[in-house]
Amino acid sequence: MQLTQKQLVSFNENGFLLIPECFSLAEVRRLSAELPALLCEESQRRIVEKEGEVVRSIYGSHTRSDIFRRLSCHPRIVEPVCQILNSDVYVYQFKINIKSAFSGDLWDWHQDFIFWQKEDGVPSDRMINAAIFIDEVNEFNGPMFLIPGSHREGTLEIPARKVSSVDGNSVYKNSLSWVSNLTADIKYSVGREVVSQLVARFGIVASKGASGSVLFFHSKLVHASPNNISPFDRVITFVTYNSTSYIPVTSGRRRPDFLCSRDYRPLVTVSDSSLLL
Ligand code: SIN
Ligand code: MN
Repeated sequence: MQLTQKQLVSFNENGFLLIPECFSLAEVRRLSAELPALLCEESQRRIVEKEGEVVRSIYGSHTRSDIFRRLSCHPRIVEPVCQILNSDVYVYQFKINIKSAFSGDLWDWHQDFIFWQKEDGVPSDRMINAAIFIDEVNEFNGPMFLIPGSHREGTLEIPARKVSSVDGNSVYKNSLSWVSNLTADIKYSVGREVVSQLVARFGIVASKGASGSVLFFHSKLVHASPNNISPFDRVITFVTYNSTSYIPVTSGRRRPDFLCSRDYRPLVTVSDSSLLL
């Protein structure tokens, strides 16, 4: 699927582009059907909310489930991403954020790229996220908040990290160091003053859409999402693509492969109907 010139201009200007109902209900149902098996798999790929029970995210499911692998190589996603980046790409990270009814916790304001640069050594922000809405995302179930144009502000200053109220008494207390960035207590959150200034200049958008919609967004777009106190689940699959020309420059440290993939082979797309096969 190729983006039009107008869509490309809009992406470059705003830092995001929503394609409503990019996947059909039949296709989304196939993806949803795979979730229960993935959710009950006990592994480091599965992150729970801070109360310790409800699943927050599952990482790397494209290496565990064939239909999610096909989703990550789907031409309706990969072709626009290659077009925007003007490059071959590989899957850098794949996650499913569950944000369950009544209990899904927030994602604080942040830019993604700083995590990938500082934690994994990615040398360029030529990275795109594709958020595939498995559930409908509405005003109630914790939609992503986006600040249009904020990706053009460069890397924003990060305030000194507050001592966390979460770390002291939560299920994350004895976790490995990389876990906190996958929780509601992330390391590089953008400060309130900066967010206020950006919103005053650029406004704010809640990214809503029917299930099957796809939101493409830039790795430096400032975004967040509130917790979900509604009775509606909000499952979104996020696939992060990196240009094959800018693979991470690794240092001694290494996050697990399901957070920073080392499979740099350029993606080959599957057939357009492959989710229904
Ligand atoms: C993210 O920023 O990585 C996730 C946001 C969300 O699931 O709302
Ligand atoms: Mn993010």
